[in-house]
Amino acid sequence: MKPVRKAVLPVAGFGTRVLPGTKTTPKELLNVVDRPILSYIIAEGRAAGIEHFVFVTGRNKGAIEDYFDHQVELEAALAAKGKTALLDELLAELPKPGEMSFVRQMAPLGLGHAVWCARDIIGDEPFAVMLPDMVMHAQKSALAQAIEAYDQVGGNIVVVEPCPEGQAHQYGIVALDGQDGRLNRMTGMVEKPPKGTEPSNLFISGRYILQPEIFDLLASQEKGAGNEIQLTDSMLKLLTTQDFHALEYQGVTYDCGDKIGLLRANVALALANPELGAAARAAIEDLLK
Ligand code: G1P
Repeated sequence: MKPVRKAVLPVAGFGTRVLPGTKTTPKELLNVVDRPILSYIIAEGRAAGIEHFVFVTGRNKGAIEDYFDHQVELEAALAAKGKTALLDELLAELPKPGEMSFVRQMAPLGLGHAVWCARDIIGDEPFAVMLPDMVMHAQKSALAQAIEAYDQVGGNIVVVEPCPEGQAHQYGIVALDGQDGRLNRMTGMVEKPPKGTEPSNLFISGRYILQPEIFDLLASQEKGAGNEIQLTDSMLKLLTTQDFHALEYQGVTYDCGDKIGLLRANVALALANPELGAAARAAIEDLLK
């Protein structure tokens, strides 16, 4: 079984749910506590052993590429002022040469199309997809949990979680062949099911392990929900020839593409931060008085 070495990060979206904050800043660079959302995603990927990150970007997303490069003047200024701890922190996050690739999705045709844009860089091996909106706070990296499941059962893995009441129509929803523990064989899936038709209460929450055969299916995938080329529709086709398992990972997900989700992430991760936690708690308690 080939190992999962590469991850695709679709980052071309407009971030319309968090405008106007995303008018000139890519939503993936919005801050959660003290660092951009993407910092958390890359740390999660690295903790899962990912060696190469493929960003599927779009116009006006150049700041993402710049974030993962030296900021020469800033680094020189920090060095001159002796702020070495801060400088070391910035340098530690930089990619190793060749660890990141950037491809353009030139038109917003959907998540399936975005993933397909990465096909040449992924090649013929299993790969991860990480939706960067979703910050997954977990003791063991959420993607590492997915890869552990993959090592156990092979095939394709979709991370899922219980959907808040009445919201299933906004997500991809899976159908399971019975439920026993956290890892279960899938029998189907549907993207944005009309209200009341969802096959379960488990939604696809933003981490996938996929086999490269998905690319051929994506190449000819017709448009689906929302008039977009949907990853879920091609996964459903792949399910006729390959195994899919749904994994309920252990951790808490924050949808940072949403105003309240972003706020929750900031509050929760500030409280969990070893350096800022106590001060954050005091500030929040003060506000709630
Ligand atoms: C995408 C996926 C969907 C998934 C969701 C999670 O939808 O297509 O299956 O449940 O991400 O956020 P989108 O949010 O792009 O509409």
